[in-house]
Amino acid sequence: MTAAVVEQTFGPAIGQISQYVDILSTKGVTHGLIGPREADRIWDRHILNSAAVAGLVASEATVVDVGSGAGLPGIPLAVLRPDLRVTLLEPLLRRVNFLNEAVEALGLADRVTVVRSRAEEHHERYAVVLARAVAPLVKLVPWCAPLRSPTGTILALKGRSAAAELNTAEPALARTGLVAEVLTVRAHPDAEPATVVRLTSRR
Ligand SMILES: C[S@@+](CC[C@H](N)C(=O)[O-])C[C@H]1O[C@@H](n2cnc3c(N)ncnc32)[C@H](O)[C@@H]1O
Repeated sequence: MTAAVVEQTFGPAIGQISQYVDILSTKGVTHGLIGPREADRIWDRHILNSAAVAGLVASEATVVDVGSGAGLPGIPLAVLRPDLRVTLLEPLLRRVNFLNEAVEALGLADRVTVVRSRAEEHHERYAVVLARAVAPLVKLVPWCAPLRSPTGTILALKGRSAAAELNTAEPALARTGLVAEVLTVRAHPDAEPATVVRLTSRR
């Protein structure tokens, strides 16, 4: 990853996303949300990987980031896309406290909301339901499907396991009437690719 890739990806928001990376590599590490060995790889592994979904999110959409942890992918997406309203959904108090502090420090509180809840116990609806590294699709689909508005989309950021997970989740998918596509997307032509499973209603 070069500085130019990050600068071209985030444009005028480069200062804000750099501030988030500083928070992740200091408080994120001391709060145990980011491994100390990961601190050097935050840009590639977390920021650009999260930003890769931006092209799949319609303008002015309402978005929920299920199991947001330290704010991934919800915070990079919100920084990159000021048109979005983003809810960071996270059940663990320690992480919720970190998220509230980060949202406040980054000046995002007017359009990014932190909610302490498990997905199964949250009853709002969103145009886009995002999840990264939360659970295999067989669990994630029943958690995320009820959070989707009738025409909404689920975007699950996955690694190489995507196709195998989809096979296992086939019965759960059939019950929800959702159809799946596996997409390869990038935040920038020179960034590492990310694999996204996109789930939408059968037409
Ligand atoms: C491995 S972390 C991933 C965090 C972040 N999405 C990322 O990519 O770094 C998984 C997160 O999912 C949260 N989680 C686990 N079960 C959940 C559930 N049922 N509903 C919502 N979040 C959940 C955990 O508390 C944890 O913060």
